Amino acid sequence: MDSSELMTKVICGDCEPVLGDFPDNCVDLIVTSPPYADSRKKSYGGIHPDKYVEWFMPKADQFHRVLKPAGTFILNIKEKVVGGERHTYVIELILEMRRRGWFWTEEFIWHKKNCYPGKWPNRFRDAWERCLQFNKTQDFLMYQDAVKIPMGDWRKARLRNLSETDKTRDESKVNSGFGKNISNWVGRSWAYPTNVLHLATECGNRNHSATFPVALPSWFIRLFTKENDLVLDPFAGSGTTGIAAKDLGRNYIGIDINKEFCLLSEKALAKTCFRKAINYEATEPEPRQHIRQHSHW
Ligand SMILES: C[S@@+](CC[C@H](N)C(=O)[O-])C[C@H]1O[C@@H](n2cnc3c(N)ncnc32)[C@H](O)[C@@H]1O
Repeated sequence: MDSSELMTKVICGDCEPVLGDFPDNCVDLIVTSPPYADSRKKSYGGIHPDKYVEWFMPKADQFHRVLKPAGTFILNIKEKVVGGERHTYVIELILEMRRRGWFWTEEFIWHKKNCYPGKWPNRFRDAWERCLQFNKTQDFLMYQDAVKIPMGDWRKARLRNLSETDKTRDESKVNSGFGKNISNWVGRSWAYPTNVLHLATECGNRNHSATFPVALPSWFIRLFTKENDLVLDPFAGSGTTGIAAKDLGRNYIGIDINKEFCLLSEKALAKTCFRKAINYEATEPEPRQHIRQHSHW
């Protein structure tokens, strides 16, 4: 497959009516970062924090309709400070999404390695954002091997001389129920990551004030889709999700209400090629597997 076989489409408009023309169950993954309440009013309008859930939910209903039953919705969002405290609109949004039929499966944290410097009298620098994972069912597709990470050189020294305890399951000393058998790590060079993603921001050269780094959608695209699947970003901005999708050999539809941002992302997509993702994957992903969540997870 080469890039010309992929569909990459940018649609200019309000994502809610635009998605109204899409068929049910056609998208494998939605990754997006909507306008945050009242932020960047000058560049693309703002929604009052108290009205945020009301504004977002009709759009989320469309996302639910177009997402395939085993698909995933990743929502990058962070509540702002209003009147000296964190506003609760993201918490209220999660509760409303659950009421409207979404499963709130997981919360990933994007740790911004290079967050803005600054000093406030009552808080520290904000160095993280939420990436909320929602699903239509608990039976969603996930390719965990596609995001494995190298275990690092420490394992060579640690695993050279195993003690007797290392060879059996060593139960937690604090009765947490967790235990480990270090000998299980022998011969392994790759491990599964955690739900914290340590990534630097990269706004500089994208002509959009609120971009996320390509590595962020790229990580979720690898985790939740395979080649040729369809990725949607309904608040596409400069097209970062599209760049990641095309680079990884996925089809992509981006929607943005702002014409200039649509032109930006069209230009960026034209410059992006499918690279077969050789520099990302630790191992060949295992065959397509449904991850069923069990009550003890
Ligand atoms: C936080 S930015 C997204 C940035 C994007 N992740 C990137 O890396 O460039 C949110 C975008 O949503 C767009 N937007 C706001 N309301 C919209 C709507 N109703 N439908 C579609 N796009 C909208 C804005 O124009 C803005 O570009």
